[in-house]
This record gives sequence, structure tokens and C-alpha cells, in this order.
Amino acid sequence: MYNSKITGLGFFVPENVVTNDDLSKLMDTNDEWIQERTGIKERRHVVYGEDTTTTMGVKAAKIAIDRAGIKKDDIDFIIFATLSPDYYFPGPGVLVQRDLDIKTVGALDVRNQCSGFVYAISVGDQYIKSGMYKNILVIGSELHSHGLDMTTRGRGVSVIFGDGAGAAVLSREKDTSRGILSTHLHSEGQHAEELSLIAPGMGKRWVNDIIKDNDPNDESYFPYMNGQFVFKNAVVRFSEVIMEGLSANNLKPTDIDLLIPHQANLRISQFIQKQFGLRDDQVYNNIMKYGNTTAASIPIALTEAWEQGMIKSGDLVVLAAFGSGFTWGSVIIRW
Ligand code: COA
Repeated sequence: MYNSKITGLGFFVPENVVTNDDLSKLMDTNDEWIQERTGIKERRHVVYGEDTTTTMGVKAAKIAIDRAGIKKDDIDFIIFATLSPDYYFPGPGVLVQRDLDIKTVGALDVRNQCSGFVYAISVGDQYIKSGMYKNILVIGSELHSHGLDMTTRGRGVSVIFGDGAGAAVLSREKDTSRGILSTHLHSEGQHAEELSLIAPGMGKRWVNDIIKDNDPNDESYFPYMNGQFVFKNAVVRFSEVIMEGLSANNLKPTDIDLLIPHQANLRISQFIQKQFGLRDDQVYNNIMKYGNTTAASIPIALTEAWEQGMIKSGDLVVLAAFGSGFTWGSVIIRW
């Protein structure tokens, strides 16, 4: 039996900065509203044609592989988490295998939205623990901006989300007191439609229906979010799953060195920080700069925190996510 540990991290965000004032030129919104409710000041949007979910993921992955001190052909498996794939199918995992020119390893796509990276890490962790693989490339990447309703109709959702990618290399660790100590995953499909993108899908509206109806008021192909309901569930589930992870390892909130919550909303992170009695320097937030980048938010934040020297060997690092599904989860790491 082995543990897995994160040996390399990388992230990529597009250069194009979109401020709240920029958005207020497209829709009826304003900097004050957005900052007060979400903490977001700006986000990055891909300029059309410059990048895709896959190419951003590849850029982040190259940095992570380099920092892990391995060669691309040392990668045994690829896991790609996203809700905004380049194609309906195949998923972006195989596109990464192609773009990185890696030998014909397996490539798995994870469809768990804001919890995608936590789910992906959990899957990778099991493969390494079992001895099946030595090095796994885990990517979270999102290109939201091309699919958002950038009018006043969509303002409740479109001001929140941004584009970007993060990646981690998970590698085999012989010392089972180090690396990923546990992962805990949950879902509650009863609330599937409360944060969702319904079309195009085989369930309710396929492309043919959209073309046939040609309805300018059709919102089914834009994301929908019941904001207050999501918020209320998020604060409860974040706390529960962090506590679940700590308890499973006989740890307490006071043992946490750094909490990296999925960057859903600064108010949610602040609520959790208060609940766990953590100082500002024990919770990493960057939603102010990037908005909510869904599956990319944790690996981007983790990479930034690591680059800033906020994570030292032996630290207890906790990752936690909540999002569409609903799905939620936590990862407890002894760095
Ligand atoms: N700019 C200005 N006004 C806006 C707006 C925007 N971008 N979006 C919505 N509004 C308006 C609404 O139309 C509404 O107006 P009304 O009172 O005249 O009807 C008013 O602001 C309040 O809207 P409401 O949706 O009740 O606001 P809220 O306080 O719930 O804040 C969210 C909205 C989305 C910021 C908040 O619910 C939230 O953060 N939820 C969690 C979201 C989240 O974390 N999602 C990711 C999960 S992974």
C-alpha cells in the first residue's frame, strides 16, 4: 500500500482581464453589487480563438510536469475535470494525451463541476494507493466565458464565472503518514437542476430542438443557478465535509495550516473561515482576481499558495469543494 502526494503544480489563466466595470458596459450591473455579494473584482476571459479548455489545461500541465521533475512519458494516467469541454465528445483527457504527445496511457474525464478537481484527485489517489499507477496528471480547466449569457438576463450567473486552468502531478509516496491522507466525496442529485446547464442534452433539449424552435428567449443553453439556495447548501456542506475529513484522521480544525476552499464566493469562504476559527493567512482566496473557475479554482489557488511559499513540508493542507450536482468533497493532505 502506498500514499499519493502532489509533486508538481501549475496553472494558466488567459491574459485578458475583464473588470466589473467592463461587465457593466454589457449588462445592467455594477462593481459595488458584484464586490459586495461575491468579492470578485475581475476575472479572465479567453479571447476568441486564443485558447480552449484543453489548451489551457495543457499549459498548466506542462508546468506541473516540469516541477514534478518527471518527463511527460513518466505519466501513467490522465484525469481531466471540466464542465466546459472543447467537444461534447470525446472529452478533453484524450486531447491532452494528444497535445502533450504522451504514450497511449488511459485518459479519464470527470464531470463534477465545482467539485471536479476534488473528485479527480480522489480517483487518482485510489489508483496510486492500489499500486496500479506511479504518476498521474490531474487537470481542472474551464472556459466559461464563451458560454455565458452576457446580457442583463444572465447577470446573476455571468458576473461570477471566469476562465483558467490548474494541474497537479500525483506521485507514489512510500511513507503513508505523508501525502494525501484521505478524500471524502458526496452528492445529492435531488438538487441537480438548481445549478445546471440543461441543453444541449439528450434528457430535455437536444440541438435539433434548439434549432427547430429558434427562440431568442430560450435560456436552456445558458447556466442556471438558484443563487441563494446554492449559498445556503454550500456553507453547510463545506463545513460538514471538512469536519468529516479531519475526524477521519483524528485531527481538529486547529491542526489546519492552510485551507483552500473552492472559490465559489468570497462570502462563503469567509463564513467557513469564521466557523473554523482560522486566521486570514490560513485560508487562501483568489476569487477577487479570477472569479469562480469551477474545476480549475482549487488547482489554481493551490499553485499560487505554493508559489508564494505558504505551504511547507509537514503542513496540513485541506482542500474542499461544493457545487453543481449537488456534489461536494474534501481532501486532507500532509504536505
Ligand atoms: N448585478 C446587479 N444586480 C443583480 C445582479 C448583478 N450581476 N445579479 C442579480 N441582481 C439583482 C437581482 O435581479 C435582484 O434584483 P431584485 O431584488 O430587483 O429582484 C437582486 O440583485 C438580488 O438578487 P439575488 O439573486 O437575491 O442576490 P443574492 O444576494 O442572492 O446574490 C449571488 C446572488 C449569486 C451572488 C448569491 O446568491 C451567491 O453567491 N450564491 C452562491 C453562488 C455560488 O457560490 N455559486 C457557485 C457554487 S459552486
